[in-house]
Amino acid sequence: MATLFPKDFVWGCATSAYQVEGSPLADGAGPSIWHRFAHTPGRIADGDTGDVACDHYRRFQSDVDLMHSLKLGAYRFSISWSRVLPQGTGRINPAGLGFYERLVDSLLARGIQPMATLYHWDLPAALDERGGWLNPDIANWFAEYADVVFRKLDDRIKFWATLNEPWVSMNDGYLLGIHAPGHRSPFEATRVAHHLLMAHGMGVQAYRAAGRNQIGLVVNIEPKYPASDDEADVAATRRADAYMNRQFLEPALRGTYPEELPVVFGHAWPAISASDLATIHQPLDYIGVNYYTRSVVRADPTAWPLRTAGVRQKHRTHTETNWEVFPQGLTDTLLWIKNRYGNPPVYITENGAAFFDPPTVEGAVLEDPLRVDYLRKHLHAVHDAIAQGADIRGYLAWSLLDNFEWAYGFTKRFGLVHVDYESLKRTPKASAHFYSRVIASNGAALD
Ligand code: FCB
Repeated sequence: MATLFPKDFVWGCATSAYQVEGSPLADGAGPSIWHRFAHTPGRIADGDTGDVACDHYRRFQSDVDLMHSLKLGAYRFSISWSRVLPQGTGRINPAGLGFYERLVDSLLARGIQPMATLYHWDLPAALDERGGWLNPDIANWFAEYADVVFRKLDDRIKFWATLNEPWVSMNDGYLLGIHAPGHRSPFEATRVAHHLLMAHGMGVQAYRAAGRNQIGLVVNIEPKYPASDDEADVAATRRADAYMNRQFLEPALRGTYPEELPVVFGHAWPAISASDLATIHQPLDYIGVNYYTRSVVRADPTAWPLRTAGVRQKHRTHTETNWEVFPQGLTDTLLWIKNRYGNPPVYITENGAAFFDPPTVEGAVLEDPLRVDYLRKHLHAVHDAIAQGADIRGYLAWSLLDNFEWAYGFTKRFGLVHVDYESLKRTPKASAHFYSRVIASNGAALD
């Protein structure tokens, strides 16, 4: 039998503002923390910055034409807060909003559904100067920004997300210090996590007041499997799962924090009021899941605060970012969400892989067989979850274009479309052609 997906299944690609747009200060935009971070020596591989990136800010029209030629039904992008509100709050910059209006109008004219994320890690630097995610006022700042955007664009954007992967904002930005703003403190990380959730909750409240369509939260889920059935490894796996996979979903969907977290963080865990949890726990229209890999966990008493360590899986394929290719983890993740959270509508808002790509040759197809294989297997994994009753509504491949991969700069290519960073020329890879056939056949081309 052919691998057909549900009628109305949404097929698309995803990007984010700082990773593709370039021109970060154009037309009155304020700097973001990523602009500052990328311009701090030593932070990004090869000293790369998002100053030009894919130049999507100026080439969006031809990029939309490209999406149309690939038969994409949807485009997930993010809105840069500091283009809209250069100081983060207060004065609105109409030219910044105007860019997103033009992008959305151009997508709609080509029959491509716009899916917008309000926050994909690029906090206005002006707000960082006021404490950024450490300042509890940030939930109000976020709601103010969200309200401005909803009032301008909800007539045309029917699908919104508050935050992209808040766990990464917290873990990489405030615990490991490898992402902007580059802090390293568990005391900060736990507070930042709570403020991210408060911003999410207040953003959804603002949406219910000003918007009429759908809003959700996008989380990264990396299923955790114990390295052995030893009790210490099983307990370590539960801690790792609470920290990465349940820290944000549990409060947003159930109004509670995972019971493991106060134990894991001890003194670094803040006191949290019932009224905050009520603010965080808002009805959502869908959950966005970003899935890339799994991890296999063993207990490691020396690793603070989680006391867990990942175990590399020998003899298995890993991507260029060293992530194990494990499609079964996507099926497991989707069924876990179905069973734990009452089968909410789910979109896979990101899934993809960085692999080494051969150089482009004029007139020849750029072959990326490992990426094709990755996509094929993960789409089968999605189909398996649907066959087992999970309510999966759509799939957005990461990414449309090779782009600025955060601390890796331009060294890791995730695109279905190759970008030559000198000429900025776009060349669809074999994976783009493959994905286009899958879309046109609603999955049948996977077989
Ligand atoms: C996710 C991010 C996205 C991109 C991919 C590879 O964590 O949301 O911006 O960096 O990883």
